[in-house]
Amino acid sequence: MTQRLLPDEPGIAAAARLLQEGACVAFPTETVYGLGANALDDGAVAGIYAAKGRPSFNPLITHLAGAADAARFAEVPAAAERLERFWPGPLTLVLPLRDDAGIAPRVLAGHRSIALRVPAHPLARKLLKASGLPLAAPSANPSGRISPTTAQHVLEGLDGRIAAVLDGGPCQVGVESTILDLTGPPRLLRAGGVPAEALEEALGTALIRAEGEVSEAPVAPGMLSSHYAPRAGVRLNVTEPLPGETLLGFGPVKSDWTLSESGDLDEAAANLFTRLHQMDAAGVRAIAVAPIPGEGLGLAINDRLARAAAPRD
Ligand code: TXA
Ligand code: MG
Repeated sequence: MTQRLLPDEPGIAAAARLLQEGACVAFPTETVYGLGANALDDGAVAGIYAAKGRPSFNPLITHLAGAADAARFAEVPAAAERLERFWPGPLTLVLPLRDDAGIAPRVLAGHRSIALRVPAHPLARKLLKASGLPLAAPSANPSGRISPTTAQHVLEGLDGRIAAVLDGGPCQVGVESTILDLTGPPRLLRAGGVPAEALEEALGTALIRAEGEVSEAPVAPGMLSSHYAPRAGVRLNVTEPLPGETLLGFGPVKSDWTLSESGDLDEAAANLFTRLHQMDAAGVRAIAVAPIPGEGLGLAINDRLARAAAPRD
């Protein structure tokens, strides 16, 4: 049985203790729920891969309490300083690993770089402080399934497989962090909660864009095509659903299901995974998604939808 912990002092203290003992605990971030473990303890991190059924070649993001901690684990390039305003927040930076980082090998999965993020969610921040640990945390879903944006979603996928979930209610951003590789010229590895345009403006340069390549081999690690799969089939860019399809709308269209009736991309991102979960639970067999503009958070939404629609094995 997985404990459901309340978002109060005793709940946070219990979660912190479990993490210090090497257990896996799910916790809310502003993007999605993460499945956390002590990033310095390889045995603890093994528990994440086991609980999720995650392929061992897919490295994890290390979550930190503050931006100042980044220098303990990574060589921080000058470009990172121009991005200071996005931490805490939904931005992950891939940076050259320090030789003396002491990070558990399973977090890195053989890479010489490390993915770091300082989450903004108050509960995540309290948990990071209370545990005193860097926390490795992928999204708290079984590998290949839809990411969780509520504690209930976490339990639907992982009940009995993890020690506890800290229940902080629904996540505000709703799509995972933007991943920016700064080991060379700035490269967008995954569109996410910080719009690519905002990063380009802060850096004063265009990003190399690797995302959106839905392929069989992971281009950047973790870019597996059948990610985020609901049980229903998914077809994109649909203005006229076929018979048997249920429309997932965006903007003023006639449907029981919508990402945002007013056509707001931030709202659509916040609703995305919840709608896919709900449509699965309602037994919808075929989802037809209305066109979503590709700017702002629309880039991340379209990326996740393309993966949901990709053929599975
Ligand atoms: O918003 C988020 O980022 C959430 C919350 C929990 O923080 N986490 C998340 O983790 O989405 P996950 O494991 O689902 O996705 C992490 C991605 C993977 O695609 C992984 O391949 C990539 O980060 N990654 C991790 N370390 C990397 C590295 N050294 N180089 C390139 N990509 C890396
Ligand atoms: Mg994930």
